[in-house]
Amino acid sequence: MNYQAVLEDISKAVRPLAGQGKLADYIPALANVNPDKYAVCLNSIDGHMYSVGDAGERFSLQSISKVFSLAMCLSIKGEGLWKRVGKEPSGTAFNSLVQLEAEHGLPRNPFINAGAIVLADVLLTSLADPEENFLSFVRELCGSGTVGYNLDVARSERENGYLNAAIANLLKYHKKIECDVEEVLAFYFKMCSLEMNCKELARAFLAFANHNEKFCYSGISLTSSQVKRINAVMQTCGFYDEAGEFSYLVGLPGKSGVGGGIAAIYPRRYSVAVWSPRLNSKGNSVMGMKTLELLTTETMESIF
Ligand code: DON
Repeated sequence: MNYQAVLEDISKAVRPLAGQGKLADYIPALANVNPDKYAVCLNSIDGHMYSVGDAGERFSLQSISKVFSLAMCLSIKGEGLWKRVGKEPSGTAFNSLVQLEAEHGLPRNPFINAGAIVLADVLLTSLADPEENFLSFVRELCGSGTVGYNLDVARSERENGYLNAAIANLLKYHKKIECDVEEVLAFYFKMCSLEMNCKELARAFLAFANHNEKFCYSGISLTSSQVKRINAVMQTCGFYDEAGEFSYLVGLPGKSGVGGGIAAIYPRRYSVAVWSPRLNSKGNSVMGMKTLELLTTETMESIF
């Protein structure tokens, strides 16, 4: 498959959508990003890399980082993790409080904010140096020792993170987190502030596409069955109340973030990362979704 030509065609085909959607300005530091950035990078498991656009420019991963924290938590806790967080799609917004209250503080899945805040608590209580350990893991996964947190973004989100603070307090009230609320939120925001470019992100996700290979990075190891199950959770929960739409249009497991990135995998074939900061009303990148829809449509390759 000539993925380079396919990506170049797609990058032209999505241009008419360029002005649609808006930046995630509820995190003020993200409102300063150039909304016209666009990048896509595909890594095949046979070792080729194809990219178009600003694929070397780093952006805020936001919720995409939840895949990395889930991988760490599953490695540490095994199946016992699912006592702390569910694995069912929520059908609600990523920051919704309604379902969490109705379900007595047990988050539906690890990718909604409530679930990821519980993951942050699991890492804080299990690791010697959670911030460093998380960073070492993602650096090894993406093959770059310079990937890091953006402290301005983390601070900006903390200063305006009223909804996440409400979620964390509700979790604490229901005894679903052990650590201090402020400590959990600070670590959660830090993980969300992680930055990578599309080349690094596609490389990091290759490990999830290649589940027949041994998954062991910086002491975090997963069985191929665990990797497949992370992909299953991405398929059903990776796009919040648009998970069905992404499955319908794209047909790959993936994860979005309000920084405008989406990472997806085609098991045993490739990983792909796309970045375009303008978001639709569900918090998912407009051009990113379209790029991946065209990728699986034009190549006639998807998991279905
Ligand atoms: O907690 C938040 O609201 C953000 N740090 C992450 C949300 C996010 O990326 C949702 N994804 N589309």
